[in-house]
Amino acid sequence: MNREVLRVEGLSKVYPQPNRKSILAVDNIGFLIERGEIVGLLGPNGAGKTTTIKCICGLITPSSGSIFIDGIDMIHTPKFGMSKISAVLEGNRNIYWRLTPRENLAFFAGLQGISYRDAKSYIDELIELFNLTQKATTQARYLSRGMQQKLAVACALAKQTEILLLDEPTLGLDVEASHELRGLIKEMVRDNNRTVLLSSHDMQVVKDICDRVIIINNGKIVTDERVDRLSKLFETSSYRFELDSRLTQKEESEIKSNFDLANIIKMPDHTVIDIQLRSHQRLYELIDILRKNGSKVDSITHREPDFEEIFLKIVKGK
Ligand SMILES: Nc1ncnc2c1ncn2[C@@H]1O[C@H](COP(=O)(O)OP(=O)(O)OP(=O)(O)O)[C@@H](O)[C@H]1O
Ligand SMILES: [Mg+2]
Repeated sequence: MNREVLRVEGLSKVYPQPNRKSILAVDNIGFLIERGEIVGLLGPNGAGKTTTIKCICGLITPSSGSIFIDGIDMIHTPKFGMSKISAVLEGNRNIYWRLTPRENLAFFAGLQGISYRDAKSYIDELIELFNLTQKATTQARYLSRGMQQKLAVACALAKQTEILLLDEPTLGLDVEASHELRGLIKEMVRDNNRTVLLSSHDMQVVKDICDRVIIINNGKIVTDERVDRLSKLFETSSYRFELDSRLTQKEESEIKSNFDLANIIKMPDHTVIDIQLRSHQRLYELIDILRKNGSKVDSITHREPDFEEIFLKIVKGK
């Protein structure tokens, strides 16, 4: 079986603006997603995540580029593509307010041509899985925001498509609900061999459930990397030194002129130096500076960089 399920090539989207310069929201991006992958789309506000997702699910027409679902051109054969994709977009217009969770689920299954009789056991399963049993017959408008969000994801699942596009699925959820939803996404990818592209601002979400992350900034892809490798790329370079004394002026200026990424935190009786090294060799250069001046090093720790730090560095182009 062909592993490739979604391919985006040279995708661009320009939003024309009356009497103003048009906006290039997505600028010539391309990527490939394999069956069973969970890929995170990360990027600052206005980076082009939602626009990319809307192009893929056929809600807006790209200005140029191609999208292939199972090798079939989505732009010229949208019907096929749409039968393979379900999407949950940002905001709360993904479900019908006046329908109950059960009715919403039946409706979305129906859109895919699945009769209620055939869908019933899966709908029951989804209601239970998403903890909506007690609200199964309450109109969606009376559910809490988190419940509505979970229902929106459940409705996308009810369509039983292979590809799921989730635009900020955990936005506005409390810690527990967010955690629960992450588990559910992971579980259903594993058990049902689905493929997920999700956008998020929550690094923990990406770190927890994504196999791969695509970072976009100003409409362009700046990184497309496996999540485990992304942390490793930076892991080797981050150290914290603790000294049991203050640095002399000379040491401080020598460190600053030799290590442009050093952050020196001065405490009354000790000093912390956080440093990013491009090679291990440079660790000894720092030790040499400290030795020359007789500073006593209390500890050296290898810091695992925070995912958020990595993201900021990539986006700022460091
Ligand atoms: N319908 C529209 N008309 C005009 N400009 C738009 C439209 N939708 C989005 N844009 C612009 O396109 C750019 C990308 O927006 P998009 O919503 O794709 O970003 P995003 O990465 O989803 O951001 P966020 O993290 O805030 O959700 C922004 O500059 C935005 O102002
Ligand atoms: Mg968005």
